[in-house]
Amino acid sequence: MGATDEEDELESLPGEPLSLWLDTTPETDFDPLDSDVRVDTAVVGGGIAGITTATHLQEAGQSVAVLEADRVVKAVTGHTTAKVTSQHGLIYDHLVSDVGVDAARTYAEANEAAVEDIASRVDERDIDCDFRRQSAYTYVTSPEKRRSVREEVSAARRAGIDAEFVEDTPLPYDVECAVRFDDQAQFHPRKYLLDLVEDVPGDGSHVFEETRVTDVNDGDPCTVETERGTVRAESVVVATHFPVFDHNFYFARQFPKRSYVLAARLNESPPEGMHYRDEEPYFSVRTQPGGDEAFVFVGGQNHKTGQGGSTEKRYRELASEARERFDVRSFEYRWSTQDYRTADRIPYIGPLGPNTDDLYVATGFGGWGMTGSTVAAMILSDMITGEPNPWANVFDPSRVDVRSQAKELVTENAAVAREFVGDWATKPLTSVVSLSPGDATVTREGGKVVGTYRDGDGDEYKVSAVCPHMGCLLEWNDGERSWDCPCHGSRFTYDGVVMEGPANSDLPRPDRNE
Ligand code: FES
Repeated sequence: MGATDEEDELESLPGEPLSLWLDTTPETDFDPLDSDVRVDTAVVGGGIAGITTATHLQEAGQSVAVLEADRVVKAVTGHTTAKVTSQHGLIYDHLVSDVGVDAARTYAEANEAAVEDIASRVDERDIDCDFRRQSAYTYVTSPEKRRSVREEVSAARRAGIDAEFVEDTPLPYDVECAVRFDDQAQFHPRKYLLDLVEDVPGDGSHVFEETRVTDVNDGDPCTVETERGTVRAESVVVATHFPVFDHNFYFARQFPKRSYVLAARLNESPPEGMHYRDEEPYFSVRTQPGGDEAFVFVGGQNHKTGQGGSTEKRYRELASEARERFDVRSFEYRWSTQDYRTADRIPYIGPLGPNTDDLYVATGFGGWGMTGSTVAAMILSDMITGEPNPWANVFDPSRVDVRSQAKELVTENAAVAREFVGDWATKPLTSVVSLSPGDATVTREGGKVVGTYRDGDGDEYKVSAVCPHMGCLLEWNDGERSWDCPCHGSRFTYDGVVMEGPANSDLPRPDRNE
């Protein structure tokens, strides 16, 4: 394929490769850490979990330091669909069966409280963040799944939610049936969080951007090491999406999946409500104000990270389904995201490891991070300030019943790791590189396994194609121009900079003798 062909192909992908959230808000500009500081609690990670936890802790009288490797509210939180809801697909029937009705009720209560926490904060601070109450619908299209919706309605009611079984939704196409939760919400996550984060600095509290944390140590005080200085704190919260300081085998206890979003303009009125088709692949729909007319977000085409073939194809499939369902005038934006799902579908929120005293974690939101992160902020701020929290046991990362349930994921991840680690050692890789602009490949060069990407100008970037976490062979992600790990979801830019853990270091560059 020549340069022109490649440009044509890229242009034919739907929308600009940019999240609407990032495109419609100002960039942040907090200074990096430049000397040692001391605070009550250090928060590693500047997404919704980190910023909301910092806000809750400040409200409880603590000083905090938020440390972000890049810019705040830019990574996962900048690439969400921003549904604020306790409806997480068909989850309550699963929870009632797997962890019992009491735990399901706690899960529902915590997530409903998270919706109200965000709503009241928007109201009290008068935040202009497109917050709107909406009904949430999880629907199916297959008659065989009708029963699962009835069971979900019954389980959600047992969990304390006023769920309704419906056959009509605001969507312009037929569904078999759906479960509806009223009084849920949607918002613009960056507008909301930029309002919160700008009030963090002052009175001994800080926000540091472009400050990568290199190590976290429990102790009295705990220390957070960065390349620019040390933060000492009574407590540390690791809110980095995947906990890069993995004290509890989190890489084996949750699995990563990627999914895709398109923001479209329609030639028809966009539907009310927030919609989620609980079938493979899932298909998510919601509207978002955007100038004179609304956008419709469609999401889906989920797959395990580093597995599932061309990601460009995923965008095209999503666009194709959107055109089938709606009268699409244009696609304006496209973005993708990564989520981690736990064995029992309940996030891990609490102590980072069984032997850590003052380190805490929030991870495994499974695609429902707006409410999950807010639940985390409420639980962790109570734990750190010594207040009782009625939900903590259900979300405890060391919950005993999860260990048995986690077997499934451990086994699955171990099989994956064996397959892919063994793969590159024996795989007959070519040593010849003849790449067209925009292409990438993995070769064996002088005993090393090398990933090479050639950009549109013909410049080549060579990286080690072996994941520094546990040695799996990386896969090229053509839709995002990244190297992705099929084992536990680490991701790297085309020139080797780590974007997503569990890996915590960049890829060596053989073209620079690294
Ligand atoms: Fe574990 Fe790559 S993320 S081996």
